[in-house]
Amino acid sequence: MNRTEDRQFRQLLSFIGSEMDFESEFYNDAYLDRRISARMRRTDTDDYRQYRRLLERDDGEREQLLDSLSINVTGFFRNPEAWEALRPVLRELTAENRRVRVWSAPSADGREPYSAAMLALDDPEVDAGRVEITATDINADVLAEARRGVYETSQTTDIAEELAPLDDYADYVDEEGTTFRVRDEVKEMVTFEQHDLIRGEAKRDFDLVFCRNLLIYIDTEYKVPIFETIRGSLRAGGNLMIGMTETLPAACRDDFDPVDKQHRIYERV
Ligand SMILES: C[S@@+](CC[C@H](N)C(=O)[O-])C[C@H]1O[C@@H](n2cnc3c(N)ncnc32)[C@H](O)[C@@H]1O
Repeated sequence: MNRTEDRQFRQLLSFIGSEMDFESEFYNDAYLDRRISARMRRTDTDDYRQYRRLLERDDGEREQLLDSLSINVTGFFRNPEAWEALRPVLRELTAENRRVRVWSAPSADGREPYSAAMLALDDPEVDAGRVEITATDINADVLAEARRGVYETSQTTDIAEELAPLDDYADYVDEEGTTFRVRDEVKEMVTFEQHDLIRGEAKRDFDLVFCRNLLIYIDTEYKVPIFETIRGSLRAGGNLMIGMTETLPAACRDDFDPVDKQHRIYERV
């Protein structure tokens, strides 16, 4: 980016922040630029300044951009090998004679927390009756989808394939054509609520926290507050799982010991 482009990019971000209620400073520039440039191509816009003008007059484009910035890509059993590595952790946690509290943060449309519930129900060595899952996200729309628990196979998403790590997914979802409805037995294990991992309060006494595929989009300075929220929410010895392409910020490494480094599973010191 040359200086003019950089200036126009900053002005665009400041417009998005003040007029569209999107806190762009949380996210890294490379991510924001990819999303904005994709919308610029779609709308045949040549530069950031012109795109800002378009946003000023076109409510529909503002919505499209917000949608595209909301990074809600997810799936059931995303990175199946990581879920396989999680089995022994869940077995060990439920072998102790007490309830096991799991937090999926961020949960997006619910496929991550439902995967955890299905894995617990599906594994004969996991006592699913002890598992309680809290799932949170900053975005109220994805939470509404999550609560419905209805997913569609489409050109880009194959739900049956996502559910393949289960012995027989028909035990946990009702399939009708391309529609998959998560059964009540699974839904009852998960409670959804809105929560902001950067600004929100820490929770308490969780045994296992998933924080996967958010950090990759977040600007370095906001990663530490996220890990502080997570550390405060985990009991000592509790586990953390991050995304397969993510790393712990250097400032937080003393707080977490690796349990399975390859699959990004840690234990709170
Ligand atoms: C790529 S999804 C990851 C979902 C799931 N953990 C996974 O790995 O498939 C990222 C989610 O983070 C949510 N998000 C973005 N900023 C957030 C914040 N500050 N606090 C909580 N959730 C946030 C988005 O709404 C989106 O649903």
